[in-house]
Amino acid sequence: MTHPSDDLRGSSSDKLRGKTVVLGVTGSIAAVESVKLARELTRHGARVIPVMSPAACRILHPDALWFATGRKPVTDLTGDVEHVRHCGRRENQADMLLVAPCTANTLSKIALRIDDTPVTTMATTAVGSGLPALLVPAMHAAMYDNPFVRDNLQRCREQGIHLADPRRAEGKAKMPEMEDVVARVLRLLGKNDWAGKQVLVVGGATAEYLDPVRVLTNRSSGKMALALAAAAYQRGAEVELWHHGLNPPAYLSSSTFTTSVDLVRRVQQAGRYHCIINCAAITDFTCRAQERKMASGQPLDLHLEPVPRINPLLREHANLLVGFKLETDRERALERAWETLHRDGLDYVVANTTASLGGDDAQAWIIDREKNTTPASGAKSQVADRLLDLIR
Ligand SMILES: Cc1cc2nc3c(=O)[nH]c(=O)nc-3n(C[C@H](O)[C@H](O)[C@H](O)COP(=O)(O)O)c2cc1C
Repeated sequence: MTHPSDDLRGSSSDKLRGKTVVLGVTGSIAAVESVKLARELTRHGARVIPVMSPAACRILHPDALWFATGRKPVTDLTGDVEHVRHCGRRENQADMLLVAPCTANTLSKIALRIDDTPVTTMATTAVGSGLPALLVPAMHAAMYDNPFVRDNLQRCREQGIHLADPRRAEGKAKMPEMEDVVARVLRLLGKNDWAGKQVLVVGGATAEYLDPVRVLTNRSSGKMALALAAAAYQRGAEVELWHHGLNPPAYLSSSTFTTSVDLVRRVQQAGRYHCIINCAAITDFTCRAQERKMASGQPLDLHLEPVPRINPLLREHANLLVGFKLETDRERALERAWETLHRDGLDYVVANTTASLGGDDAQAWIIDREKNTTPASGAKSQVADRLLDLIR
């Protein structure tokens, strides 16, 4: 019989379908987040086996995780040898151990090979079986900065255990955002077909100063850039995101630009990448910015100059260069995209229309040098994956 939590399975994606995650929950106040985390992993198709330390059970009632996963949490090891059943080199063993949140106590015990709770025994067994293990520390900053805890984090790293960086806020080393933890799980259990490849994604709209207060910009939301960077990360790439005005997740290495001139300077100093995907909405015109704020209430004439094209500058920095072309309608987008591919020396160009501006969905066509045109529509995350499938 199915449990109501099964209704969620795969509602966000199929990326974890067929995968089993042992979710260890320890005695941090962030244990309350583990309910949402379990649900989010289920939405990507995972089967989640909850395991709780006694301290976690004092903070979160096991029924909450039972409800979230459809499985009664392991709160004691019994004659059923739950640690061996789930993590012990058996045919149907789990695919990974995720300890989120992970207390200072549990991470130090794992580092020092102590196991005296169901979570630490799962860790001993998982590490011995060669299962990927990801610890997500959450604690007061004073605990995280304790040199013994730091040493133990390093010990874990040296044993190949993955660690998520906490989010520093309000004097705490808090559990990172849910999206961050899920992205790391997707990277560990995903197809890894972009592993080791350096990818640069450039996205967001540039802003050209008219005066110290006002800017000339456009309606691009940068959501496509975020989706592309996230998809490349989940598939194992070493990703860098250059952006303007976005709020990228902490797991992405990112830096910002503002004007098209800033961006040109960045490109001139850039290294080499396997792939550069430029979906930045460059405000094609710039003007000489006034030093003082312009007075209001009177007509204003602006003289705009065209800005340098970025794609030709990016060409020498990438084996694979992908550009985007946005137009108001499909026919014009396809025509202009093809011209752009040739003019800018692109390997692929993604044509899309103003219908894709701002929202979570895109309607796009991916064109290669032979003029093969592949439609890619749906959520921007799906379009991003489609593009990464094609250009690899
Ligand atoms: C309400 C409460 C919140 C706590 N939050 C944390 C925390 O965020 N991080 C941490 O390392 N310890 C925290 N502790 C302390 C741990 O629960 C304690 O070290 C416990 O021994 C951890 O056991 P475990 O690692 O087996 O779960 C908290 C304790 C309480 C009572």
